[in-house]
Amino acid sequence: MNRLIIKGNIISADSFNNISIYENGYIVAEDGVIREVTGKLDRKYGSDTVTDYKDALIMQSFTDMHLHAPQYPMLGMGLDMSLLEWLNTYTFPTEAYFRDEGFARSAYSMLAKELIRNGTTRVVMFSSIHRKATLILMEELDKAGITGYVGKVNMDRNGGRDLEEETGESIRETLKWLDECKWENIKPIITPRFTPSCTNELMQALGKIAEERNLPIQSHLSENVSEQEWVSSLHPDCSHYYMTYEKYGLWNGRTVMAHCVWSDEEERKAMKESGVWAVHCPSSNINLTSGYAPVKEMIREGMNIALGSDIAGGDSLSMFSNTVSAIKSSKARHMMLEGKPDFLTVEEAFYLASSAPAAFFGEKPGFAAGNPLNAIVLTDSSLPSVRRLSVKERFERSIYRREPHAVKAVYSNGKKVL
Ligand code: GUN
Ligand code: FE
Repeated sequence: MNRLIIKGNIISADSFNNISIYENGYIVAEDGVIREVTGKLDRKYGSDTVTDYKDALIMQSFTDMHLHAPQYPMLGMGLDMSLLEWLNTYTFPTEAYFRDEGFARSAYSMLAKELIRNGTTRVVMFSSIHRKATLILMEELDKAGITGYVGKVNMDRNGGRDLEEETGESIRETLKWLDECKWENIKPIITPRFTPSCTNELMQALGKIAEERNLPIQSHLSENVSEQEWVSSLHPDCSHYYMTYEKYGLWNGRTVMAHCVWSDEEERKAMKESGVWAVHCPSSNINLTSGYAPVKEMIREGMNIALGSDIAGGDSLSMFSNTVSAIKSSKARHMMLEGKPDFLTVEEAFYLASSAPAAFFGEKPGFAAGNPLNAIVLTDSSLPSVRRLSVKERFERSIYRREPHAVKAVYSNGKKVL
């Protein structure tokens, strides 16, 4: 058995609006799994080495529940457009480059390293339509120590000249890709891009594959009003966007739907009842002028919800940054609707980026015993302060200042990866 003990000021998002703090505490992990968090180390660990991070903060690392790996090369560009124009003029042509395996290798190896440097250790990620580039992406993430799900994207309509598959080819390539997935910690997820990209025949086949192989599913839902109108013209039989997934078996407790900005009460109820996950992507929703998602309403209604960067609709890989965006987006909505609903606090937004998504992976909130050790060690010793700050204040400041160089060490699945 391999034991790891780290020491510092431990911050654990134990419930939605409450973080627990253990000053000068210890996390004990055995074979990568947390055994306990304690203020005082038991004598039974006497001879074990303790990695002492002294006055540093140790907090849970981030999960990014929605991002597009092949949009990494366009991160920070082309954002003065709304969704459908942005997809056609900027995004699809960029993703088409990933037919080139050499290009995919270098971009994805950079992406994986940047995720780790920013303290993101787990992802639910879109690749492109390309099978080989998707396998390269999975390999690079695995090599960097990242865990989670990656999907080869399916799209057999409206992709333009360079980013569209034939229906049969899309299904065959998906099956072939699934057979080639060989990683323990990076798993496949079925990924119809969104309803306008997939014919009914393809949706049907993907629903069947997901069911037969017991695979999770990810897609986009009610991100933008024009998109909703388009979906409604493609599926006149469906009163709500979600029904276009539901009718093909793509709607269950292992479905992850990005955005849900314009999901009305009925659509949200359907999500709640089926246990579908909503991924709130505030930076992207503001950049592409999609809207302010009703995140507090979703939480109040008891929906499964987590945060995503949605790069490159989002402008930053850093989940520090996206956590701050979630707070600001909820405050903008709070002001716009004259105080109703309430806005997200720092603790709440951090929970959405750490403990909330852990539940999708079958784990408990916080640094609970039995969870894999996923942690970030942060230093803030070079920052000025007029008095001695509490750990809680330092935590808040670290989130808001979102400085990547503050991340001094990262543990993923029990291993030190930075
Ligand atoms: N809807 C369909 N594809 C995409 C995408 O790549 N990004 C975003 N934000 N929305 C989408
Ligand atoms: Fe997206």
